[in-house]
Amino acid sequence: MQFRSKLLALLSVVACASASLVFHEARAAPPKGFVSRGTTSEDQTIELRIGLASTNIDGLHDKLMSVSTPGSAEFRQWLSADDVKSFVQPTSESVAAFNAFAKVNNLQTRNISPNGEWVAVSTTVGKANALFGAQYEDFEHEALAKPLVRTLSVSLPSELVGHVEVLHPSTSFESPNMRLTPLPKSALVEKRDVPASCNSTITPACLQELYGIPTTPATEKSNTLLVTSYQSQWVQQVDIQEFLTQFRPDMPSTTSYTVQYVDGGLDPQEVYDAGIEADLDMEYTMGLATGVPVTFLTSENFDLTSAMIDTAAVIGNYSKPPSVVTTSYAGDEDGFSESLAIKLCNMYMSLGARGISILYASGDGGVRGGHDSTSQCSLTTFIPVFPSSCPYVTAVGATIGVQPEIAMNLTGGGFSNYFAAPSYQKTAVAQFKESLPSNFGGYFNETGRGYPDVSTQGWNFNIVVAGKTNLIGGTSAASPTFASVIALINDRLVAAGKPVLGFLNPWIYSSASSAFTDVTEGKNVGYTCPNSAISFTATEGWDPLTGFGTPVFSKLLAAAMA
Ligand SMILES: *[C@@H]1O[C@H](CO)[C@@H](O)[C@H](O)[C@H]1NC(C)=O
Ligand SMILES: *[C@@H]1O[C@H](CO)[C@@H](O)[C@H](O)[C@H]1NC(C)=O
Ligand SMILES: *[C@@H]1O[C@H](CO)[C@@H](O)[C@H](O)[C@H]1NC(C)=O
Ligand SMILES: *[C@@H]1O[C@H](CO)[C@@H](O)[C@H](O)[C@H]1NC(C)=O
Repeated sequence: MQFRSKLLALLSVVACASASLVFHEARAAPPKGFVSRGTTSEDQTIELRIGLASTNIDGLHDKLMSVSTPGSAEFRQWLSADDVKSFVQPTSESVAAFNAFAKVNNLQTRNISPNGEWVAVSTTVGKANALFGAQYEDFEHEALAKPLVRTLSVSLPSELVGHVEVLHPSTSFESPNMRLTPLPKSALVEKRDVPASCNSTITPACLQELYGIPTTPATEKSNTLLVTSYQSQWVQQVDIQEFLTQFRPDMPSTTSYTVQYVDGGLDPQEVYDAGIEADLDMEYTMGLATGVPVTFLTSENFDLTSAMIDTAAVIGNYSKPPSVVTTSYAGDEDGFSESLAIKLCNMYMSLGARGISILYASGDGGVRGGHDSTSQCSLTTFIPVFPSSCPYVTAVGATIGVQPEIAMNLTGGGFSNYFAAPSYQKTAVAQFKESLPSNFGGYFNETGRGYPDVSTQGWNFNIVVAGKTNLIGGTSAASPTFASVIALINDRLVAAGKPVLGFLNPWIYSSASSAFTDVTEGKNVGYTCPNSAISFTATEGWDPLTGFGTPVFSKLLAAAMA
């Protein structure tokens, strides 16, 4: 680095302000599947997102635990946007240090979060290389339309150390396929009849029957649910209409949704624009959370990590936020740099503190990451999934079958390598570990946050996409389903003049833990691996396949009202 920064000082007047660079983060190689096509052109524009250290993030954690833990004197006294900001905003020293750096290097900065902890800078790759001791390269992946611009190592000018926590893009390579729906090959062409039995295919009526979800419409219009959507996945109003006509004949088929545009997000409505993930997520929220106003958040940012940062910033900036947010995108945790994962997870902490339940699909590769592959079946090091592994989100796994419900092979579950087990789950996780065979060692991180927290059905959901009925599955189907349950409970809470459920986990792991049907069978080997592959096995009580199990609406409502 020493030689490098001297060289840069000769080349460019800007570098003299950054006399010394301090190593920040690196990875030895890009994740599997990414191939470097050489250094990125120095003149290419790069949009950097820079995460500044918060004033008191530990204080916000303590406050959040206090307001979300049953029995606390301030239980469910969710924080105002200003209260959250007082913890999350950077100190004036950090702001001054960064602004001075930006000024001397002639960088235009843009505040992109309501709490001021993220700023965006648009610059050239050459300048970013010089300022941050980086070497940006074009990394191709066969599943990506264009290369990701990333660096394998990044440093910080010494004057920013302690003030800047994250520089993105740098060493994060999110999985190219974070969308958690395994596609049937016949998708979009095959017309299937709706079978009678919920044992083989799922409809809203099946889920209502199975979990006791009411069909009576919500009454509280202030209680809203938000569905995020990325990667050109667009919901179609005509598909929603056809879905409601077929599967919710008791609802007005013209029920519509609100659109939130982020990062140039789009909402096109031609038949070829139908997105299977977007339609699934919207059909199993609009068609299940009867009468709850639903918002469709659409982002066209090719960089999904940036889209996730901006999504959390937009939600954090609402004066009247949704009570539930569901996301069906997640990827291998190790694809994200640790600093990025922590900062994004802290954004979910901020949203939870405002009384927003943040739900994520737990992953579709069982113990083998976002999506497993046959080449991974003999892997003996399990791959956790992020953001499901963030302790401030509620991760939703998938079950299959009705008598009994069993953990589905693909249900994402395991233990984080970035986040330690939070206090709320220590007892549940310790109990699970006692069920493991004594020789079950070394496959997973013993100290990590265990996920998922809960589960619902996640296979063979009937959806309407591009005008056709089709079957789809994955934890992508489970997260919207659980989001609908929570949204309907919130409706009843608001109607009774009570605060919404907000950050769920401390409540789920204590007073609500018996409001679930325990799922005690199944293995999460992954979708493509044989049952003999190493994995976790469902057991009595919490487990890293289905969490506490599937919801019993009446019991959850009673626990919520108590
Ligand atoms: C937050 O919302 C306000 C008003 O709705 C807007 O003026 C402001 O630019 C937003 N802030 C950010 C960081 O997006
Ligand atoms: C549901 O399907 C499973 C697996 O195909 C089968 O073993 C079980 O008997 C079925 N249950 C009912 C009630 O049809
Ligand atoms: C295991 O998780 C902890 C956090 O609980 C982390 O500090 C540690 O680095 C992880 N170990 C590995 C091998 O990733
Ligand atoms: C995983 O489960 C699904 C649903 O039952 C099944 O279609 C698939 O074949 C299973 N995978 C393997 C490798 O058995």
